Amino acid sequence: MALGVTSLEPIPTAAIQTRWRHIVTPIPAPESVSLIERLRQAEPRSMATMPPILWHEAEGFLVRDPFGNQWIDFTSGIVLANAGHAHPRIVQAIREATEQRLLATYAFPSESRLALLEKLVALSPIPDSKAILYSSGTEATECALMLMRRHGQRIRADKVSILSLAGNYHGRTLSAQLASGTPQPTDWIDRELVHHFQIPAPNCFECPWGRSHYEQCGADCFRAGLDKLASRGIDLDRIAGIILEPVPGWTTLPIPRDFAAAASSWAKQHDCLLALDEIQCGCGRTGRFFGGEHLGVTPDLIVLGKGLSSSLPVSAVIGRNELMDLPLPGEMSSTHGGNPVCAAAALANLRVLEDEGLVDASARTGTIVLERLQSLEREFPEHVRAVQGIGLFLSIHLHRRGTAKPAVELADAVAQEAVRRGVLMFTTGRGYLKVTPPLCIEPDAALEAADVIRDCLADTTKTV
Ligand SMILES: Cc1ncc(COP(=O)(O)O)c(C=O)c1O
Repeated sequence: MALGVTSLEPIPTAAIQTRWRHIVTPIPAPESVSLIERLRQAEPRSMATMPPILWHEAEGFLVRDPFGNQWIDFTSGIVLANAGHAHPRIVQAIREATEQRLLATYAFPSESRLALLEKLVALSPIPDSKAILYSSGTEATECALMLMRRHGQRIRADKVSILSLAGNYHGRTLSAQLASGTPQPTDWIDRELVHHFQIPAPNCFECPWGRSHYEQCGADCFRAGLDKLASRGIDLDRIAGIILEPVPGWTTLPIPRDFAAAASSWAKQHDCLLALDEIQCGCGRTGRFFGGEHLGVTPDLIVLGKGLSSSLPVSAVIGRNELMDLPLPGEMSSTHGGNPVCAAAALANLRVLEDEGLVDASARTGTIVLERLQSLEREFPEHVRAVQGIGLFLSIHLHRRGTAKPAVELADAVAQEAVRRGVLMFTTGRGYLKVTPPLCIEPDAALEAADVIRDCLADTTKTV
């Protein structure tokens, strides 16, 4: 299963004019093709997988190209514009920060870094915490993994292993890839040789232990994963930390609370730490500020990114004081981490999420969109295996007729067709569609887009 390079052949489309969707050209717009071709010559093909529309302007939950087309955005970029694209208060904060003529400070003290850090510490569910800022999510993941290992090494020199869940994603730098349970370019590295271990994710949808449904079996699931490692002679006492997505980007459902509780208590009993990767599910996406709030456990570390700024590159690690202070002065920093303009954007974003009640909006709008989309399970039982999720973190899983196998081609074709009809979606290459609009989306617009997905599914299943 992989993403394909999208075709640049313009496909005629029916003109669409609704309050939110305007489609006035074939897609891709013929005028955009030569530019996208030049882009493909200038950058690797790994970048050529998204539907070929030229982003020119993005505002709130709408994305526009320069040719008169406008989409309802069901992507939020890639699950990043939680407060909406180009929110005026975020734009204003960026403007003020640049007008102050302070564009970079590295680790020198700055007011905007302080303001953002104090805000993060105030939001933190971890008592007595500190936070550190980075640019990309993967850097923050890498930092959390390093901190867990530093902590482990204080207990025992070889307590440096990381436990993660198959199917979770944590980023593209080396340790983050090794902790990820999705196929990666680093698959040539023997994970276990470099102290990364995985157990099956508690994905009841495809139960790794062959059960037909969830029966309060999360603790057994966690235990069974560990037992399997132990039965291969792996020393579990060497595990320094567990990292997991509390609401994985693939299933978009919180992992079972009993699995999380088992992981948390096992970690405590074994002097091991628990890090929650909230890069995708955090910052209100799931109807709570932290996705981990659905689990009922307090982690030792939290990793944030994407929706932390809804705009410029900002990520963060939050953790208990004594953990965050394990590295010596100078050992944990990054040139662009806490950049004053980015920090100002992130602080404005957090205030917008709060002042506009966008976390609650995510829960409310998510519930009605989920209900609408779940009708697809009844209408297309041969193609739709499940529609699930929480808040505005929803996914539609398609399967090949009469099998449990993901319908990769169909899902990607539906996403491409939705784009031609004015709903911006991304292809996943894994047989599912993801519905992750900005949290500010108007419920009527979200329902209109959900109905477009329905029509695309109805039409696409006739041909794919
Ligand atoms: C759960 C999760 N962790 C980590 C990352 C990596 O973040 P970034 O792409 O900003 O490095 C992502 C990005 O998609 C993610 O979804």
